[in-house]
Amino acid sequence: MFISFEGTEGVGKSTLIRGVADHLKSKGIDFIVTREPGGTPLAEQIRGLLLTPDGEKIAPACELLLLFAARAQHLSQVIEPALARGQWVLCDRFVDASFAYQCGGRGLPTTQVQALVEQFVAVLPSKTFWLDAPVEVGMARAGKRGALDRFEQERHEFFDRVRAVYSKRAVAEPKRIVKLDATLAAETVLAAAIGEI
Ligand code: TMP
Repeated sequence: MFISFEGTEGVGKSTLIRGVADHLKSKGIDFIVTREPGGTPLAEQIRGLLLTPDGEKIAPACELLLLFAARAQHLSQVIEPALARGQWVLCDRFVDASFAYQCGGRGLPTTQVQALVEQFVAVLPSKTFWLDAPVEVGMARAGKRGALDRFEQERHEFFDRVRAVYSKRAVAEPKRIVKLDATLAAETVLAAAIGEI
């Protein structure tokens, strides 16, 4: 199984991933936990470029291509080998984030992301948990974690557009994308995810 976890900032992805990982461990299932952008030393360097704010404005197309460069490395070095070994892969964000953030948030055409997925992404998640909460709920939680990264510094409207794309994708692919109400208690959200798995 290849499972991805999605949502806007501060919705509790890390907590849910930890809970699912504990559950798989208790069932004796072999798995890895990884994340995007990142997951390999090179892809983590690209993550640093993308998340650390500095003086130079990153063009949306540059951002998109860096994300897919990191993804190509992550797929070939980590995700594909793990799946080939029979391990489950729990991935904190995957391609849905590119549609949500780069198309919804930044306004890039969906066709650009779709083309990159078709060209460079050979395996897609069989299940995706979308943790949904009103943007202000997540932003308040993310704000408590410390300094905001380059994405977290975006305005409320940006995340409303991101959330709207997640919602549209969940409606279009109801079998794969499971919407979880992230305003509920963490144990309730985890129980729903485990039920689905
Ligand atoms: P996070 O791992 O803390 O959620 O931070 C990763 C950030 O990267 C998050 O703000 C969303 C952004 N991102 C994209 O914009 N597009 C993508 O394809 C991915 C994987 C992440």
